[in-house]
Amino acid sequence: MNHLTWALATAAVFSGNARANTVPQFAERDASASAQSPPFYPSPWMNPKATDWESAYEQAKAFVSQMTLMEKVNLTTGVGWEGEQCVGNVGAVPRLGLKSLCMQDSPVGVRDADFVSVFTSGQTVAATFDRQLLYARGLAMGQEHRGKGVTVQLGPVAGPLGRAPEGGRNWEGFSPDPVLTGVSMAETIRGIQDAGVIACAKHLIGNEQEHFRQAPEAVGYGYNITESVSSNIDDKTMHELYLWPFADAVRAGVGSVMCSYNQVNNSYACQNSKLLNGYLKGELGFQGMVMSDWAAQHAGVSSALAGLDMAMPGDTSFNSGFAFWGPNLTLSVINGTLPEWRIDDMAMRIMAAFFKVGNKIGEQVTTNFASWTTDTYGPVHYAAGKGYQKINEHVDVRAGHGTLIREIAAKGTVLLKNTNKALPLNKPRFLAVIGDDAGSNPAGPNGCSDRGCNNGTLGMAWGSGSANFPYLVTPDAALQAKALSDGSVYQSILANNQLDATKALVSQDGVTAVVFVNADSGEGYISVDGNEGDRNNLTLWRNGDNLIKKVSSWCNNTIVVIHSTGAVIVDKWYSSPNVTAILWAGIPGQESGNSITDVLYGKVNPAARTPFTWGNSRESYGTDLLYKPNGDIPQVDFTEGSFIDYRHFDQANTSLAYEFGYGLSYTTFSYSNLHVTKKRAAVYQPTTGKTITAPTIAKTKPSTNLNDYIFPDAKFPYIWQYIYPYFNTTSSGKEASQDPYYGEPNSAYLPENATNGCAQPLHAAGDKVAPGGNSALYDVLYTVTAQVKNTGSVTGDEVPQLYVSLGGPGDPPKVLRGFDRLRDLAPGQTGTFEVNLTRRDLSNWDTASQNWVISDCPKTIYVGPSSRKLPLKATLA
Ligand code: NOJ
Repeated sequence: MNHLTWALATAAVFSGNARANTVPQFAERDASASAQSPPFYPSPWMNPKATDWESAYEQAKAFVSQMTLMEKVNLTTGVGWEGEQCVGNVGAVPRLGLKSLCMQDSPVGVRDADFVSVFTSGQTVAATFDRQLLYARGLAMGQEHRGKGVTVQLGPVAGPLGRAPEGGRNWEGFSPDPVLTGVSMAETIRGIQDAGVIACAKHLIGNEQEHFRQAPEAVGYGYNITESVSSNIDDKTMHELYLWPFADAVRAGVGSVMCSYNQVNNSYACQNSKLLNGYLKGELGFQGMVMSDWAAQHAGVSSALAGLDMAMPGDTSFNSGFAFWGPNLTLSVINGTLPEWRIDDMAMRIMAAFFKVGNKIGEQVTTNFASWTTDTYGPVHYAAGKGYQKINEHVDVRAGHGTLIREIAAKGTVLLKNTNKALPLNKPRFLAVIGDDAGSNPAGPNGCSDRGCNNGTLGMAWGSGSANFPYLVTPDAALQAKALSDGSVYQSILANNQLDATKALVSQDGVTAVVFVNADSGEGYISVDGNEGDRNNLTLWRNGDNLIKKVSSWCNNTIVVIHSTGAVIVDKWYSSPNVTAILWAGIPGQESGNSITDVLYGKVNPAARTPFTWGNSRESYGTDLLYKPNGDIPQVDFTEGSFIDYRHFDQANTSLAYEFGYGLSYTTFSYSNLHVTKKRAAVYQPTTGKTITAPTIAKTKPSTNLNDYIFPDAKFPYIWQYIYPYFNTTSSGKEASQDPYYGEPNSAYLPENATNGCAQPLHAAGDKVAPGGNSALYDVLYTVTAQVKNTGSVTGDEVPQLYVSLGGPGDPPKVLRGFDRLRDLAPGQTGTFEVNLTRRDLSNWDTASQNWVISDCPKTIYVGPSSRKLPLKATLA
């Protein structure tokens, strides 16, 4: 038996990493890195009375109280990369009937599986501004994950938020606006969890760029850095911008949160006590579990003390065979480094999330797919090549979700320009479709692993946030079918570089030309055309700008459709009179062609709004990414505060192409009758009092005899590289631990208060029982209504928006605080737009009192169809 690998795995109980949370350590590491993350200990334990968690807590307690120490450790530590069928698994507890928990990407569908659907990106569904569709998408995705035997769906995404448009993974999230993202998070989470699957709000926090998110990945690209990038975010910006949507996620009852790869104020997110203990579990009262991003854990005991509950995928780096936890965690409890209440709390949080979404012991769906192969039979322990069995049942979980995906992508398509009644199309005599982005990838829709290429129409961007297409309806296929049924002439040139042929085609009399172009991006582990996740620029790919300019110079009815992961610079062609219409179709998923056909022909009357601003230059955004390291430990200072996207453009009063919240319809609307009603609400009371003392859930104390923890050779075979909770030696000394810091001064350093299980003060901005912050923050202070009338000639949806000016000198001119999608307003019909403005909506974060405060500055509200078209205005009394 090869015990060597897991002998090494007993490393580093008091690893050097334990020191990574102490302030002096940061200074030593990089003198230029001035941002520091203050310590916050102890790690808050669960609250048995937390709203909507009581029953889950009781069930978890009944279960966890029966568990042995090693069973608990097994629950917290992944089995290692490719150790089982999912992208992450934790060990099972067979004695108590619990199967291994399966953690699986992605935010758009079940990754690495067959017979699943590929939904629209988060950004695209956000553009619908439609709560019902957000929920329906979450529910359908949850059902597909459940059908495949997934315990935790690794989504939705609120980080990146979208600080800069070049950010490679912005499309996985929703919008750089925290309110739109917060609502989108909450609805998606409710949907996923109503399907019986735990949602995972990720990535906490500041993962705003792919460059340098992980030092080893960056080194692989040839950059000379020693640690991952630090996103340096001040406390006010944290609350008013980046943490805001996570608060909504926690309030919606999310069962898990994933901490990110990057450092936050020079402390790795997955061992940042201020972030996990302070903000998330303390202030926001998060009751579920924190799992690490894959290999984002950099420390053993210190990450547990800082609030990490589950290590993913469990090994220190992929297939190292070593673990920061596993046997080390077992040992750390036995030798008293990690208090028993903490390991109990870790297990409780995992099991409470499990029960909260309706799981029952004995009724778990067995995982019936394999992430690493589409073969039916194969090794269940893929990395080790062991356990040959049926690993893929090929269960079809799609349940007709294509119809919903088609609807969402159509209703998420933004009509940016429409002149001369170019749209909707009505039996055009001659339709010419131009561009690579209208056709298929010659290698097939899944021809590039994790969609890591940009060939053919952009139905899905790249990275772990993707899924395998069951089919991909191209724009060419769908438009041809429609044109033929209408008796139109239809010809397409599915290339950007066939300019002579294109000229000959689109110059013909009466041609309506539809040009499809795109801009792609993705996750940092894949580089496409030199874009290492993040986009290198904001221009269209494959010379798309040139194609549009050419076609529109030959054809005076040129319609442009953009598939992209965010804004592109359109200033070279968007105002041309020959460009008669422009649509942003986002990242549409499997029904792409059908959805765009529905919009182009008016079957769906567009109402979507752009969830980000379209600037006229890259510089106009005022934020950008760091592409070249500025030190051994790259530092990105978020000095713009909350002035990102439209907040920046408004402040700088910069001209732009299309503002946040903008989008046209085939009909028109008028806004009137703004009415503000002040509500009675009690005076805000900061929360006082204390938590309970840390509960010990275990019925018996764990044995301190190391012999009791030796790998049970007789019971089952050791699997190579698999992470176990067991020891292979009874020695706990340096040889066994392999800890380079073992026995050195400070090697046993534990942060002050880290092991203190006494009752702790509650956070003033937190709540005694309600997750998501002080419940009085959600008191309604004003109800605002306005009338919205369809003044055109066709039925349509409208998306009214409410913005607030908080009035302070440091505040953005206005911030989105409410929106709705009023559905199916017939010509002449009036709908009522209603927003409940909460205390949080009208507050600023006060760093001195560490609470939300409504300033004395005058508060103005604005209502209208976009962030720069706000016909109605009122001042709040
Ligand atoms: C890394 C990504 O950042 C994360 O979003 C994903 O869930 C994990 N890999 C697992 O694939």
